[in-house]
Amino acid sequence: MAHSPVPNEDLGKSGGTARLKIFRGDAEGGEEVDYEIPLVEGMVILDAVLGIQAEQAPDLAVRWNCKAAHCGSCSAEINGKPALLCKSRVDEYDGDIHVGPMRAFPVIKDLVSDVSWNYEVSKGITPFQSDEQAPFTMYEEDVERLYEPKKCIECFMCQDVCHVLRTHHKHAEFAGPRFFVRNQWLEMHPMDNQDRLHDLKEDNGLGYCNITKCCTEVCPVGIKITDNSIIPLKERVADEYYDPAKWLMRKIRGR
Ligand code: SF4
Ligand code: SF4
Ligand code: FES
Repeated sequence: MAHSPVPNEDLGKSGGTARLKIFRGDAEGGEEVDYEIPLVEGMVILDAVLGIQAEQAPDLAVRWNCKAAHCGSCSAEINGKPALLCKSRVDEYDGDIHVGPMRAFPVIKDLVSDVSWNYEVSKGITPFQSDEQAPFTMYEEDVERLYEPKKCIECFMCQDVCHVLRTHHKHAEFAGPRFFVRNQWLEMHPMDNQDRLHDLKEDNGLGYCNITKCCTEVCPVGIKITDNSIIPLKERVADEYYDPAKWLMRKIRGR
């Protein structure tokens, strides 16, 4: 992958070194390897990793694209927590900095994990459908409500931190916070005519979420995943499935 590592003439300008312990390995296993790199003012972890790749470890695998916290490609783990490598400054960390791949997904090599499971989940979500033709006329408050979920950059860090996936490996039964955000956008779109509540309850495992808010804490674009996506969806599912009158209607409808 083409990249622009820390320019050699800048190396050491700020004095001192950054010490990184980077996971080197693949799906079979691996270990942390120590690297040291001259510290440059404003350096982010991705700069350090690319500098190491350029000067010391040309076979070090790392995924990145925009280097501007927009594409979501460089998500990995720093000191065991999901982070965008291009948004995390080296000087925010004391001592050795542990850098590894996201652990909720299979490791491909070094810092790169296989996030393709997420795209399979995405395919299973009922897409937007409308009885009307765009452009739509909508109330301003409805439009504003749709901005936040659309900010998602698909870094999948919320998926990585969620214990339902990371610890309990419920990938077959749980869509994860990123896709609750997507469902929220669809369900709250006033022009959409589909109903995804059954799928959220039965296929997407919304009930597994116990509102720990860990996903919200790591979202790099500030989506309030629990408050604005998950809780409203849970309320809609509860209204639909646990309201006695609606329960009776569903029995009559057969679903
Ligand atoms: S709030 Fe729910 S979806 Fe988010 S990390 Fe916690 S359990 Fe997972
Ligand atoms: S909701 Fe936030 S943390 Fe989750 S994938 Fe989107 S941008 Fe990343
Ligand atoms: S390289 Fe695009 S978000 Fe970090």
